[in-house]
Amino acid sequence: MSAVVVIGTQWGDEGKGKIVDYLAEKADVVVRYQGGNNAGHTVVVNGKEFKLHLLPSGILYKEKICIVGNGVVIDPEVLLKEINGMKEKGIDTSGLKISNRAHVIMPYHRLLDAVEEEYRGDFKLGTTKRGIGPCYMDKNAREGIRVVDLMDEEDFCAKLERNLEAKNHLLKAVYGVEGFDYEAVKKEYLEYANQLRPYVADTATVLNDAISSGQKVLFEGAQATLLDLDHGTYPYVTSSHPIAGGACIGAGIGPTKISKVIGVVKAYTTRVGEGPFPTELKDATGDHIRERGHEYGTTTGRPRRCGWLDAAVVRYAGIISGIDYMAITRLDILDELPVLKLCTGYKYQGQLLKEFPASLKVLAKVEPVYEELPGWQTSTSGVRRYEDLPLNARRYIERLSEVAGIKIGIVSVGPGREQTMILHEMF
Ligand code: IMP
Repeated sequence: MSAVVVIGTQWGDEGKGKIVDYLAEKADVVVRYQGGNNAGHTVVVNGKEFKLHLLPSGILYKEKICIVGNGVVIDPEVLLKEINGMKEKGIDTSGLKISNRAHVIMPYHRLLDAVEEEYRGDFKLGTTKRGIGPCYMDKNAREGIRVVDLMDEEDFCAKLERNLEAKNHLLKAVYGVEGFDYEAVKKEYLEYANQLRPYVADTATVLNDAISSGQKVLFEGAQATLLDLDHGTYPYVTSSHPIAGGACIGAGIGPTKISKVIGVVKAYTTRVGEGPFPTELKDATGDHIRERGHEYGTTTGRPRRCGWLDAAVVRYAGIISGIDYMAITRLDILDELPVLKLCTGYKYQGQLLKEFPASLKVLAKVEPVYEELPGWQTSTSGVRRYEDLPLNARRYIERLSEVAGIKIGIVSVGPGREQTMILHEMF
């Protein structure tokens, strides 16, 4: 049995797409289990760039089953655009399976995401405005529309009518904006239904059958640990469960089926949106990392906040998800820095904290405890073997591993598949 979960350990954008793409080559099945098109992966294959938002990265390989699980929220317009974009580039999408239990993002979810953010004013969350939060809200309120409902015209129309009545009223009465026309939304979504129908399946069955027959399965987390609804920096989080446990709920497998958990760690830290960020650099070093690392959102184009590597965050992610190995990405972005700082923990009111703070008030006030390490000031992007990395680069990541208490499994020094060093085989 071989089912590997790949998750982000920080605030997202760790380069999970590249790691998943690399591991997908050996997998038979690749699964997305949470989030939606708030995620954005850029994968480079033979110098060609692919931007993925909803499709699992495995789609770029032939003959893989790619599953969009029940825990994902699907904007059908975006998904169809992505499927058609792949077809135009000659990518075969016939292995794609979309869960009949996944929830559907509706136009009112997108609008509500935008107006609710505006309404929050100074307390805005910095969402991607893709309708993710409002769609999960409806799911939890047991008012959502699932893919299985969309496939049944009668059910869909009844649910849409009921939902539109409530949402249009909310939009008008509370936010003062116009809602949506029933006939127009109905026509648009029934057309999406026709196009999506060939891909719809009971994906938990497909997945469990695949695991039982010895196939290799890769779970692709979107977002990351500190954006997890329960374990992240609430309320500055997303509305789903990007941690390893989320794979069980969002795909329909038992925890006993997971054989390995890999945590992707960017060699520095970034964050988009609002919320505390203890190691943030609001200086020239932060700007250097942003420019050298092209740290601008794949989904929204927003500049990302940049900072030193925070091993306290990685240690916390390791505990919450039971991470076996780290995949360290973007080490090459630090190539030019003369000195690096590694945050090993936090002090609050003079005391070293033993736990990652639940209170954002505390997190906003903690003082990071730094260790200074010498940089390597030489290019690593051409290195192909771990032993060939500059000594100071190895010292940096080995110290991270020590502080976080997680073994190093993979080190990446560039976007290409060939710029990946494997220290432990994952399948
Ligand atoms: P939402 O997921 O659009 O509701 O946004 C909630 C928070 O999660 C915001 O701070 C977003 O910037 C952040 N977020 C959502 N998706 C991603 C991602 O893929 N990478 C990084 N941050 C994300």
